[in-house]
Amino acid sequence: MMETLHVALIGFGTVGKGVYESIGKQREQLEALLRKKVSIEAILIQNGEIKREVDDRVLVTTDVDELLNLPKLDVVFEAIIGVEPAHTYLSRFIEKGCHVITANKELLATSGNELRKLAEKHNVGLRYEAAVAASIPILSTLREGIRSNQIKEISGILNGTSNFILNECQVSGLSFEEALRLAQEKGYAEADPTNDVDGWDAFYKILILSDLVYGKQPEWESISRKGIREVTSFDIKKAEALGLRIKHIANLRLQKEEPVITVESVAVSEAHPFFNVTGVNNALSVAGNLAGNITLTGPGAGADPTASAMVEDLLSIDRNSTEPVYYSQIEKGNAVEEDFLLIGDDSEVRGLEVLPTSEKGAYYVTGKRSEVEALLEHSKASLYPLQGLTLNHSTSRLAVV
Ligand code: HSE
Repeated sequence: MMETLHVALIGFGTVGKGVYESIGKQREQLEALLRKKVSIEAILIQNGEIKREVDDRVLVTTDVDELLNLPKLDVVFEAIIGVEPAHTYLSRFIEKGCHVITANKELLATSGNELRKLAEKHNVGLRYEAAVAASIPILSTLREGIRSNQIKEISGILNGTSNFILNECQVSGLSFEEALRLAQEKGYAEADPTNDVDGWDAFYKILILSDLVYGKQPEWESISRKGIREVTSFDIKKAEALGLRIKHIANLRLQKEEPVITVESVAVSEAHPFFNVTGVNNALSVAGNLAGNITLTGPGAGADPTASAMVEDLLSIDRNSTEPVYYSQIEKGNAVEEDFLLIGDDSEVRGLEVLPTSEKGAYYVTGKRSEVEALLEHSKASLYPLQGLTLNHSTSRLAVV
């Protein structure tokens, strides 16, 4: 008789429900691949008043101890929001010897290394493919696809909601509020959409990548994290007139052997791999020293794409290596000059050596980020890092002349 894998779900919101339904939908294929039957034993919910549409034999409870006391439990899927109580719950399940599959970005960004060590100690798997870019298999690509490379840089559109909003504002002319409401209706946004639009969600995801790729994170206070609130329809239109699109991009690279992260809105040209990444899609571009630049794109939010990554983790849960990838050693580098799109009144750039564009009130400038930001500190102009365009640096240098 085929062995049975006993699983439980923590959380039954968009993602938890998606996992429940996906296991049902893919059961035959999953069981053939696992060579085990999959039995959902229990679901932990927050609000016992709401009736859940699940099989009668599944225990639905608000008490985590009922899950912990199940006679047989092999794997727990966790899909709730925030660090607590997820951290306490997962630690207890790991200590009990259960494998854990989680989509909880904030928890992993905050306590990923600690949970990995705990999982290692108890000889169980901790998998979290769904936590970064939903259905895009970025973690397995880094773990298994380009393991012998050194990773020079990773950048990504990591928040589907922000990408969806920017795209709707640009293409459909929706206001920020209208586009956000639509993203919430479609189940893309976090329960508190501040996490999406203020860059927190992308911030947690890039920190998870930093842990995985470089084995450490920058100090959180040193990270420049910006959301999309300050991107105006005016800026979007100005950029569009220049053939550019504003994208919310998280970037991770090493500088002087330390990871450096930025989370911000960037103006990209048509030549950039993220230019055509629209809707709720995410994209990741990984620069490997041997492989070159690899770009992966796909749905970054929503029930099925997130469930896809979590269910996929089930297939490899017991051949899991819990330690991070640790691509050490990368070139040492100093702060380099970058190009920017500057949108502002003519008076804002008076005295600065900038490159005018074909659009009035839009300029290209070049310089070290800290110096450019300092020069524009008191200006009302919008500044977007510019990618995918080659500027004539002799005329675009930002300096007081
Ligand atoms: N709110 C997130 C997003 C969901 O919009 O990308 C996936 O993490």
